[in-house]
Amino acid sequence: MARTKFVCGNWKMHKTQAEARELVRALAPLCAPLGGKVQVAVAPPFTALAAAAEALRGSPLELGAQDVHWEKQGAFTGAVSAPMLAEAGVKHVIVGHSERRQLFGETDETVRKKVGAVLAANLLPIVCVGETLAEREAGKTLEVVGRQLRGGLSGLQAPALAAVTVAYEPVWAIGTGKTATSAQAQEVHQALRAILRELCGAGADSIRIQYGGSVKPDNAAELMSQPDVDGALVGGASLKADDFIQIVRGALR
Ligand code: 13P
Repeated sequence: MARTKFVCGNWKMHKTQAEARELVRALAPLCAPLGGKVQVAVAPPFTALAAAAEALRGSPLELGAQDVHWEKQGAFTGAVSAPMLAEAGVKHVIVGHSERRQLFGETDETVRKKVGAVLAANLLPIVCVGETLAEREAGKTLEVVGRQLRGGLSGLQAPALAAVTVAYEPVWAIGTGKTATSAQAQEVHQALRAILRELCGAGADSIRIQYGGSVKPDNAAELMSQPDVDGALVGGASLKADDFIQIVRGALR
């Protein structure tokens, strides 16, 4: 089944409002000629969302956020809710990134609650899974990512699952310059697809599974040529328009 590839830039804690505006203004005209053949989004920090939303208006470039709280409102100092993100022009929300899991106490249970909140606000979650180097070396990769995927999506039925994108991001490949080989990525993506089939039957064939972890212009096309690699979640290389757009073009090859 042909799935439209989906490339999202996760800017992490980079870019002021002015810098976000500048990068989006550089990217937007480069996305227009893609004619919808690749879906492209950027996920700036919360403070730059409104500036980015304004700068990408009228272009096919879409807006993502990097995290969300599961409640709509309340006494949760520092947190931002899904309806707030929707109002800011956000369409996609990254949930369960390994940095959130490792540095901010995210668990499969909080991922599940966040995914529910994102869907309830009619936004589209990008649910991240990935093993550490120690887990890979212990032969536990498929067990770990399987547990994260089932945990993060538990309780969701087929129609809701259709709105989900999954991102496989091996922790050892993030920001390290060490990319998974395309065969390593495909092996995990295929296993994740099999779990999605258990959860939602044939609907699993339309769910995109992105790869993330040191995706660069020179490895993007090869990674995305794998049958179950349906796009990329790009960190460092999404901060420069030229690099990011080369990665996006890699999805067309
Ligand atoms: P890098 O592309 O910088 O390795 O980051 C990957 C990532 O964490 C995207 O979410």
